[in-house]
Amino acid sequence: MENKIGIIVGSLRKESFSKKLANAVADIQLDGFEFEIVSIDNLPVYNQDFDDFSNVPEEYTVFRNKIKELNAFIFITPEYNRSIPGCLKNAVDIGSRPSDQNVWDNKPAAVFSSSPGNIAAFGANHHLRQCFVFLNLLVMQQPEVYIANISEWFDDEGKIKKEENKEFIKSAVESFTQWITRIN
Ligand code: FNR
Repeated sequence: MENKIGIIVGSLRKESFSKKLANAVADIQLDGFEFEIVSIDNLPVYNQDFDDFSNVPEEYTVFRNKIKELNAFIFITPEYNRSIPGCLKNAVDIGSRPSDQNVWDNKPAAVFSSSPGNIAAFGANHHLRQCFVFLNLLVMQQPEVYIANISEWFDDEGKIKKEENKEFIKSAVESFTQWITRIN
């Protein structure tokens, strides 16, 4: 069976480095795996009143159904104020509810974090991992993927400039496919 890996990006901005990284991951060719970028851009802010199925927003249903369809997830996150951006937490929360219908349950995940700065969004990376413990997303422990100085990575077309950086990302994704195979 083809494994379908969803890529979820924690940034809404058009010129996002995280979105460029997501496109680079989606372009990787690996036998038995395909990638799909799942947009979180239009999700309304989570409100627990919407757990009542009579008034659930259509965007929540579309998103939850898409997550159910996919086998594994790569989360690509920047860091806001030493944590994950609100849009990403919002998407994680929407997928987690109602609590007996957590769509993340038992699915493999990887966290890639990046920043134009030197600390490579370590805080966001680990805050996301903390949520995943509770949600039972089965996170690849190693390799950890931290990318510093991401603003230097891309050319004017949004492609990764350096071969060594392409190889780094490919190797992280390959490790993740091995993780998926191992726990499936
Ligand atoms: C940031 N940025 C940032 N960077 C970082 O390394 N650690 C941080 O805690 C923060 N905090 C932060 C808060 C807010 C509200 C903004 C808007 C930005 C900078 C951030 O890494 C930078 O804007 C990235 O380019 C955002 O990622 P995308 O949109 O390029 O994917």
